[in-house]
Amino acid sequence: MKAETGQDIDKAAYLLSDGEVIAIPTETVYGLAANCFNLKAVANVFKIKKRPNFDPLIVHIAGLQAIDRFAKNIPSNARQLAESFWPGPLTLVLPKQDIIPFDVTSGLDTVALRVPKHSMTLSLLSQLPFPLAAPSANPFGYISPTSAEHVFNQLGNDIPYILDGGPAQIGIESTIVGFENEIPVIYRYGIITPEQIKKVVGNTLIRVHTSSNPQAPGMLHSHYAPRTHLFITDLNTEITNPNVGFLAFSIPHPQIHPTNQVVLSESGNVFEAARNLYAALRKLDNMNFSCIYTSLLEDESGEATAINDRLKRASFQSDTHK
Ligand code: TXA
Ligand code: MG
Repeated sequence: MKAETGQDIDKAAYLLSDGEVIAIPTETVYGLAANCFNLKAVANVFKIKKRPNFDPLIVHIAGLQAIDRFAKNIPSNARQLAESFWPGPLTLVLPKQDIIPFDVTSGLDTVALRVPKHSMTLSLLSQLPFPLAAPSANPFGYISPTSAEHVFNQLGNDIPYILDGGPAQIGIESTIVGFENEIPVIYRYGIITPEQIKKVVGNTLIRVHTSSNPQAPGMLHSHYAPRTHLFITDLNTEITNPNVGFLAFSIPHPQIHPTNQVVLSESGNVFEAARNLYAALRKLDNMNFSCIYTSLLEDESGEATAINDRLKRASFQSDTHK
């Protein structure tokens, strides 16, 4: 099977209703979507991604109005966050309603819910009588896809259709927030920052796991890695090997040939950098370097935290030290 790529929302709806797994665009990264109530389709998502069964999926819903159908005992601050940031790159982990299968949550009593901010996917969700269980549409452990082409290159043989919504506008996965004794806890950094969350709901904890997390084992270090080893260094470190790539935030490495480098944002804009990050890593990964170097963003605050988080997870060192 070779996936067809297109913009036919009706076709996407038909295939999903028929139990197929297809790729859908979101503002963060592309998702590998299935009818959340169809256990065979959900099992196929795990199979196609080669994702371990203990790593739960995010359920994508059409709008805030649907939250009570799928989650219960919702803390008021969760509702406030949903009102402030949905549709958008925020995932809320909440106690699940019985209607959500344990196959989707990997046996957990909680479900991760998100309303994606992408017009095609919102229109698809609004015409479907079921929500979409969808992890990022990459093989487990690799970098998430931010274009239809990225999906096609890796999963084109495994799915019938890729709904092409253009390049992802945010470029990194959603911020994940759960609640422990009604206190918000950030489990994964994203473009929505801890500061933004605190502004809405006050006291917020951060528990971003840098190693295996029994609550959500998917948030492993090696979750976002290219095949070529990525090392974190800085612009002052001498690099003599000519066969290396460099992923630069805004300033290229002075010793590495410009054609071996990708600059994420010449103006140093973190949003532009996030948008370009995964395509840049993929490009460098395909250039047959003996390794890739990068440096962390110096000002590790706001949105830069999420970019540095992804760089650390993608790097070889953190992978071996997990
Ligand atoms: O931006 C995104 O969130 C993208 C797009 C497609 O929506 N999705 C995405 O899904 O990044 P995925 O499967 O690659 O990452 C979802 C993360 C996993 O690390 C998983 O462990 C965590 O969400 N997760 C899912 N359900 C959970 C739950 N009930 N409790 C804690 N963590 C959960
Ligand atoms: Mg993923």
